[in-house]
Amino acid sequence: MKISIGTIPDNELKEKYESEKTLEFGKYFTDRMFKTDFSNGKWENPRITKYGPLALEPSAIALQYGQTIFEGQKAYRTKDGKLNLFRPALNIKRFNNSAKRMAMPEIAPDIYFDALKTLLDLERDWAPKNVGSALYIRPTMIGTQGRLGVVPSNAYLFYIILSPVGPYFPEGFKPIKIWVSEQYIRAAPGGTGFAKTGGNYAASLLIGQEALEKGYSQVLWLDAIHKKYVEEVGAMNIFFVYNDTLYTAPLDSGTILPGLTRASVIQMAKDFGYSIKEEALSMDEIVDGIKNGSLQECFGAGTAASIAPVGCLRYQGKEHIINDFQIGDITQKIYDQLIGIQYSTIEDPYEWIVSV
Ligand SMILES: Cc1ncc(COP(=O)(O)O)c(C=O)c1O
Repeated sequence: MKISIGTIPDNELKEKYESEKTLEFGKYFTDRMFKTDFSNGKWENPRITKYGPLALEPSAIALQYGQTIFEGQKAYRTKDGKLNLFRPALNIKRFNNSAKRMAMPEIAPDIYFDALKTLLDLERDWAPKNVGSALYIRPTMIGTQGRLGVVPSNAYLFYIILSPVGPYFPEGFKPIKIWVSEQYIRAAPGGTGFAKTGGNYAASLLIGQEALEKGYSQVLWLDAIHKKYVEEVGAMNIFFVYNDTLYTAPLDSGTILPGLTRASVIQMAKDFGYSIKEEALSMDEIVDGIKNGSLQECFGAGTAASIAPVGCLRYQGKEHIINDFQIGDITQKIYDQLIGIQYSTIEDPYEWIVSV
């Protein structure tokens, strides 16, 4: 695939962010973006252009019916200036699974990967240097055909944008407070929960905003049928530690995003010698575990937030405090190993890193 690379006059290049310390998540974008169009059954015109607005029909199917998918990855800058991608093949695979569910065309892994590598190479100076900061990567596909009527689009745009980011939560690696959603649900069996599609997130905005206003960083979703079993958090999968066993929700209902951080935590925890149970846990069991002290730790896991210790769950009008609102030993151990691998400060025994 030959990618055409447009030039940007020097006076149109952006000022870089002032300081890495004030890098708010998702606020800044680099100078360039990758684009390719799908029409007549194939992807064509791969190009890198200046980052900027898209021209879309007001009737575009993405805008009217939400035919959109995306991925979230990071490039981590190492001490020797390389950019580390973490298990990028899994992102490509999940992107194509999302595409299938949303009746969209798949994209060949080599197009996706070539596009990403070429763009990162041009934008490498934008990658922050601090551990905990990174260049966030947002591959996206949207249905661009302009027409009303609920049918899949016959034309698509695939693009990649890059955003230099600091920690996802302003508090950094510190315990967060989570609001358990008792009224709203995120995904039901047979729906689109396992796909990374805009509508899943649109449905979470109202309660997410309410939770934030009340001082909670994220919402914890329960299953749609019983409103009882824990599924995942707004932008993370979630783990509960009881007596050195890690519990996380199983993926088989298709209602949970299969996180690649989740898969990596499972692998690392097994190798540390902990037991893993991918089992449905009810909120009642969790509250009991907090009360009787058997629930030792809780943490979220996702690309954006990495590992996020959870210090409080708000459920049925009460705040349930976990591990005295302290970071647990197992959470810390997993965080250290994950971050160490991602920034190449420790050896990567799994060959998860692909350097660009
Ligand atoms: C709803 C949801 N769950 C879980 C995750 C974690 O997935 P990953 O570890 O692949 O970033 C994300 C982040 O993309 C998410 O949006």
